[in-house]
Amino acid sequence: MKRILFTLALFALASTASAQKWEGLAETPPMGWNSWNKFACEINEELIREVADAMVETGLADAGYVYINLDDCWHAPTRDADGFPQCDSVRFPSGMRALADYVHAKGLKIGIYSDAGCRTCGGRFGSVGHEYQDALQYARWGFDYLKYDWCETENIDPKGAYTLMRDALREAGRPILFSMCEWGHSKPWEWAADVGHMWRSTGDIGLSFSEQIVHGSWEANSVLRCIDLNAPLRRYAAPGHWNDPDMLEVGNGLKNNQDRAHFTLWCMMAAPLILGNDVRSMSDETAAIVLNREVIAIDQDPEGVQGLRHSEEEGLEFWFKPLADGDWAFCLFNRTKEDRTYTIDWPHFDFVDEEVSQRATAFGETLYDVRDLWNGGKSFSTKKPRTVVVPAEDVLLYRLTPAAKQPRR
Ligand code: GLA
Repeated sequence: MKRILFTLALFALASTASAQKWEGLAETPPMGWNSWNKFACEINEELIREVADAMVETGLADAGYVYINLDDCWHAPTRDADGFPQCDSVRFPSGMRALADYVHAKGLKIGIYSDAGCRTCGGRFGSVGHEYQDALQYARWGFDYLKYDWCETENIDPKGAYTLMRDALREAGRPILFSMCEWGHSKPWEWAADVGHMWRSTGDIGLSFSEQIVHGSWEANSVLRCIDLNAPLRRYAAPGHWNDPDMLEVGNGLKNNQDRAHFTLWCMMAAPLILGNDVRSMSDETAAIVLNREVIAIDQDPEGVQGLRHSEEEGLEFWFKPLADGDWAFCLFNRTKEDRTYTIDWPHFDFVDEEVSQRATAFGETLYDVRDLWNGGKSFSTKKPRTVVVPAEDVLLYRLTPAAKQPRR
């Protein structure tokens, strides 16, 4: 009874507030790390502290990866006697406040996970009926980010459930980035621009580049499938709210070329860059991918336009992303298992991005300097056609800058 009265009182309070999402938290796609892809339910405070240390030592924090996000299974078996959430005291003996303080002291931010239904996907308590209490507790603990999942939500309306949690987060008084993990079932891109800062456009990613992974009743998506589900949604992404094709698998066991293609396409799609690997023992090859500042800059470009899959020739795709100051990112993406030789005839790619930015490439009139972002910044120009080799399941990524402009470096 006490619990019900408390929840009702909070509801009444909330109804008088202007319910809006926290603004200004995701002007560019969020960047950070999440525990799920590598560690699933095997998380504890020591791991999270070590990850926070590694984020700083490896330079990931400096490169912009600021959120350290706990995913599922941080929970105690039950809520406390008043219905507030509590953490697993064996895995997190110092408590969440101490963990948040530790992460903040490193100059980083910290995220937590819950679910709009009665149970999380890992079987822990969900937030339904406790939204205001949960938001309040996350704020008191010092969290900066909430990923809100969609298991055990039979008969719950997604728009209502996510809006309720948005309002609860607002009412709790601490700016908390709201990551909606509803897998795209109700097309949140059509209704959630003022609800969340990012929404999953796909089911769960798996550790596979091109093949779906069947797990009995559900399939984990390959990298290619995530791209194909997310690519058509570009008109819904903008500063403040992003399409989320799921967290990165880079460094978890794909081939280096596949990791490079995966990371590049996420950047071309202005996707949140949430690492999912063990950053404490990252290989040099992985570090070279996730720490490439010029590639990250494509993702984080202030224009905030999700790139366009312009065309495709037998599995070789051509992607363009308009960038600030008249630049373009241009990516050749070879989905096939064979290397491809291709001659880029620039005026062939003259087009206007009518759907989103209204920008034109205008190769006929504008000469661009071309900088090869994965190959040491080698440069050439669009004056002449260029013959390139795009290795199997790999990319070439270029930054095009109008030649008349002052050199940027
Ligand atoms: C769902 C989400 C995943 C992860 C797990 C945790 O499957 O989509 O990203 O959070 O739940 O149980």
